[in-house]
Amino acid sequence: MKKKRVLSGIQPSGNLHIGNYFGMMKPMIDLQVENELFCFLPNYHALTSQTDGEVLRKNTVEAAADFLSLGMDPEKSVFWVQSDVPEVTELTWVLNNVTSVGMLERATSYKDKVSQGLPAHHGLFSYPVLMTADILLFGTEVVPVGKDQKQHLEMARDIAIKFNTIYGETFVVPEALIAEETGLIPGTDGQKMSKSYGNTLEIFCEKNDLAEKVMGIVTDNTPPDEPKETENNTLFMIYSLFLEESERNSLKERFQTPGLKYVDVKKELVDVIWDFFAAYREKRNGLYADDTTVVKILKEGADKARDAAEPYLKMVRERTGILYWDS
Ligand code: TRP
Repeated sequence: MKKKRVLSGIQPSGNLHIGNYFGMMKPMIDLQVENELFCFLPNYHALTSQTDGEVLRKNTVEAAADFLSLGMDPEKSVFWVQSDVPEVTELTWVLNNVTSVGMLERATSYKDKVSQGLPAHHGLFSYPVLMTADILLFGTEVVPVGKDQKQHLEMARDIAIKFNTIYGETFVVPEALIAEETGLIPGTDGQKMSKSYGNTLEIFCEKNDLAEKVMGIVTDNTPPDEPKETENNTLFMIYSLFLEESERNSLKERFQTPGLKYVDVKKELVDVIWDFFAAYREKRNGLYADDTTVVKILKEGADKARDAAEPYLKMVRERTGILYWDS
């Protein structure tokens, strides 16, 4: 079967936590196996909220190192930084001319961000057009996204169809692959794990910081000599993320057997999490210590992405009448 071209842009979110890993990164990394995965770090998009250049530069390189440590494989996938293929901004400009203001005005993400206090500048307003260019430039067939990005994908389809109608079949009209609910990944307080709730367990941190947070996971007050509920049990749910089905079943049995102390399970979980990420941690330390490997991978990724973009750019320039001389 022909591999599908799958593309995603992932915003660096600083200190990665296990909710990011199980909710987004792992599913993405798993896609490498059966698809042709294109994955990039959208640093042009980041300008809507990051005005400190030094910070943006550092975040971008570190996010690349984090991704590579966690299993993004440049042999299997194309992995690059958005701005290393600056033609995406050229395509954005062209697409601006087939994008209606009314559609952009209906973007809930724009309205939400403005109501949260982000400045209502044009970069934020036309964010979906840049995102569309990201997708169309590489002949993307499938875009795996969270529910929050569904509307942006509809806009991308709309813009692709509009362009194709005016200028002739040029772009692949992309399909959204909406992530099925990865079962909610709870934070230490039982709410969805999120940086804004301060309930995260970081992937890369000191072991004693991890231990402190794991010890803080909320538990009910079932006494040790009574069986414990596993449903909606935050400790059980977090622990389960790291287990195969058979292991999960035996953990369940342990919970249901009187005598189990939550504190013992927590101590065990600290080691389980620590060991789970051990190899990734080591790889990351290496990449952080010397960023030449990361930079080399990103440059090679950008070259491959450029090659994939070339036929689309060529068609766009020809059909729209934008002069361009091959060097
Ligand atoms: N807007 C996406 C997000 O916030 C990131 C993104 C930018 C993206 N360009 C993309 C996602 C292209 C998929 C495809 O998560």
